Amino acid sequence: MRHLSVPSHETERWLAFCRSNGWLASTGVVPLGSDHRGVPLTPAAPAEGDEVWGGMHMIDVEPRSKAPVHWRERLPVDLQRLPESLWPSAYEIQGDVLMVKVEPEVEPYAKAMAEAMLEQLPNVRLVCSDAGVEGEFRVRQLRPLASRDGSVSTRTQIREHGVSIWVDPGTVYFSGRLSTQRYETLKAMQRFRALLNRPLVVADPYAGVGPSLPLLLAEPDLLQGYLVGDLNPDAVELLALNIADWTAHTTGFEPEVVLCEDALKWSQRAELLGLADVLLVNLPHDSLDHLPSLLPLLRKQNRSLVRGWAIVERARLPSTEKRLQSIVQEANGRCEEALVEEVKGFSSTRCFVVFQATIAWD
Ligand SMILES: C[S@@+](CC[C@H](N)C(=O)[O-])C[C@H]1O[C@@H](n2cnc3c(N)ncnc32)[C@H](O)[C@@H]1O
Repeated sequence: MRHLSVPSHETERWLAFCRSNGWLASTGVVPLGSDHRGVPLTPAAPAEGDEVWGGMHMIDVEPRSKAPVHWRERLPVDLQRLPESLWPSAYEIQGDVLMVKVEPEVEPYAKAMAEAMLEQLPNVRLVCSDAGVEGEFRVRQLRPLASRDGSVSTRTQIREHGVSIWVDPGTVYFSGRLSTQRYETLKAMQRFRALLNRPLVVADPYAGVGPSLPLLLAEPDLLQGYLVGDLNPDAVELLALNIADWTAHTTGFEPEVVLCEDALKWSQRAELLGLADVLLVNLPHDSLDHLPSLLPLLRKQNRSLVRGWAIVERARLPSTEKRLQSIVQEANGRCEEALVEEVKGFSSTRCFVVFQATIAWD
């Protein structure tokens, strides 16, 4: 098994580095002679010679122990005798926070389960029970079950498309499932930028912590500015923090608007009207209902791009494109290209769709 050979006094630093990147295997550090240690690596760790290792060498040695392969094997012996089907078969991790649905029959053992998970998963700091999402901000009801270091804050950082994003699953909605959609947004905006032949202003009024933005901000000459926000104040706090991180080395965006306000009221602010070239609408239960109130944010010269996500009844899927076209028509625009496509991997009773339209303002 691959181990990174490090001087003993640098072990902690390399452990932290590998852990934070998800490259630390759980088998434990191996002594290598009197002054070196072997840090066990996961298969995801880059190869020897990669610049991240700063010239350190790797060696192939037996792992220190045969580690349990599943957290259930870390449970106290009496609990291991309970049927396997009792225990949750899935959990979700955001950054160093693990969230697991705890059924009533598991409740008496929830703490022992959480401690077994902490022992098995070295990158996890906090294990929480997840009672599902609630309210208009669609925030999960989390309850801390066990913490590695005593801290119970659910604020954490995830990585997506090579960028760090502050999230807080206890106070703000975030889902990694739309990460491919965010990449598609970049591609659609690159094509649209080529059409207009100038940098774009993007509006994202349901931005959450802002996961749509880092790819756009990092793309040279793509964005002129942004107009982003959320109604949830906790989301806006993280959104502002994230934007500060993502724009630390790139300045000069105009406008740079971050709002904590109901998106339906944005168009009542005269200074926001006609500012945006691209509108992102991510409030899946209401996106199409909200769209008419958002269109005044678009600059009605030449063309605009609208891209959003919606949950629609399967039977209504064929008529959704027509609905999109008529919303645009009522705003005196014309859909040049409209698409409505199902995004796979969501609930099957209703469809989760992405919709997109290039609007001509004749
Ligand atoms: C489905 S989430 C999308 C968040 C983010 N775009 C993402 O992909 O992670 C919808 C967001 O809209 C916010 N929201 C709900 N109603 C709103 C409203 N009327 N105006 C502005 N934001 C709203 C919620 O707080 C939530 O963060």
